[in-house]
Amino acid sequence: MATKIQAPKGFEDILPLEVWKWHAVERVAREVAEVYHFQEVRTPVLESSALFHRGVGETSDIVRKETFTFDDRGGDSMTLRPEGTAGVVRAMVEHGLIAQEGARAKVYYIAPNFRYERPQKGRLRQHHQFGVEVFGVAEADQDVECILLQLEFYRRCGVKDLELQVNSLGDRESKERYRDALVAFLSPKREALSEDSQRRLTENPLRILDSKDPRDQAACAGAPPASGSLSERSRKHFERVQELLAASAAPFRVNANLVRGFDYYTDTLWEVTAGGLGAQNALGGGGRYDNLVEQLGGRPTPGVGFGSGIERLLIALDGQGVTLPSPRKPLVWLIAHGDAARTALWQVLRELRAAGVAADMDLSGRSVKAQFKIADREKAARCLVVGEAELSAGTVVVKDLATAEQKTVGRNEVVESLRQLEQAAGR
Ligand code: HAM
Repeated sequence: MATKIQAPKGFEDILPLEVWKWHAVERVAREVAEVYHFQEVRTPVLESSALFHRGVGETSDIVRKETFTFDDRGGDSMTLRPEGTAGVVRAMVEHGLIAQEGARAKVYYIAPNFRYERPQKGRLRQHHQFGVEVFGVAEADQDVECILLQLEFYRRCGVKDLELQVNSLGDRESKERYRDALVAFLSPKREALSEDSQRRLTENPLRILDSKDPRDQAACAGAPPASGSLSERSRKHFERVQELLAASAAPFRVNANLVRGFDYYTDTLWEVTAGGLGAQNALGGGGRYDNLVEQLGGRPTPGVGFGSGIERLLIALDGQGVTLPSPRKPLVWLIAHGDAARTALWQVLRELRAAGVAADMDLSGRSVKAQFKIADREKAARCLVVGEAELSAGTVVVKDLATAEQKTVGRNEVVESLRQLEQAAGR
């Protein structure tokens, strides 16, 4: 036998028995996005590398160390998207969807992203995000609408133990002041920083606050908070965010040192964590990015959004013992005693499927006992059995597998009698 080939490290298969959980979560995501009046956008997984260099930031860890980048056969540098925002901005600009001043666009996506990270629980090289992006509204109210949507998504999925942290980096000028304040604070401690953070001190000092290295964390104790550098406009913006969150009864905590992995953020930033996730406890996060559209060649347009990891959500739900509502239709399994009965059941099978009932049967002539076993393994709710007696009488035995109750019905009354049974069971 040839050697088996395995999935690449950090890439996971979503197998048939697990996929219903994805469907359940995706269905909630779409429902919530739609009641908040967002429309779906789908963009390519592959983009020109320049998009992420310019969009996510040349000096961000993600672009420096974590992208899957290669030259295609024509010699162009391409990158598998490490996140959703830059591609969505590119698409909106390219198709003129945010070209008009004052136009508001609200989009969402459910899509895979690729980061060359060290895989561990909750950290993959291919992960999926449910995300939203809104363009054209500079007001803090828009930040809060995104945050409330995100929380509503978790609430409907049944996640417990949520914590929302918010911070503000301020506008471009505030961010520069904050950067200078951090450099002034950390420069005397340069030697105490990790090697990576010594480099960050000149390239991207805000990222030092996010470092997991204990040396960096010690050096950052007592660092000046971003709030000290905020312009008047940014301070008011952040106050409005907090005021609206409080008015919406959404509990939150201001984390003055919250920074996130992308250079594009301005003003509001947030992250939501959940119990049961261990070290990788961020379920999702987002923020405002008022300069990104312009940086990517569009007319100046404010933007804000979030991304939420689906794998992490499923881990959290699992850890918290929450079962998602199964969107699976109850399955009906048809069981035939012999080939003539199978031929007769074919017609019933077609009718059931045409009526929208999930139905299946064994097609390889197995014994009746084996067919019942399969029905059980496939978690069928009911069986329809045709033996010799039913074949000549033109009837079918309908059996409920949970209660073992059964009754005989005419072959052309099957769809109707199943419908009645479902109604009686409250499904
Ligand atoms: P992010 O914080 O990098 O933000 O990712 C959002 C979420 O995706 C994380 O909180 C986490 O749940 C999940 N995630 C990220 N990386 C991984 C990974 N390697 N393995 C498993 N899950 C992961 C963004 O990507 C921004 N684009 C969000 C945004 C949208 N900001 C504004 N708009």
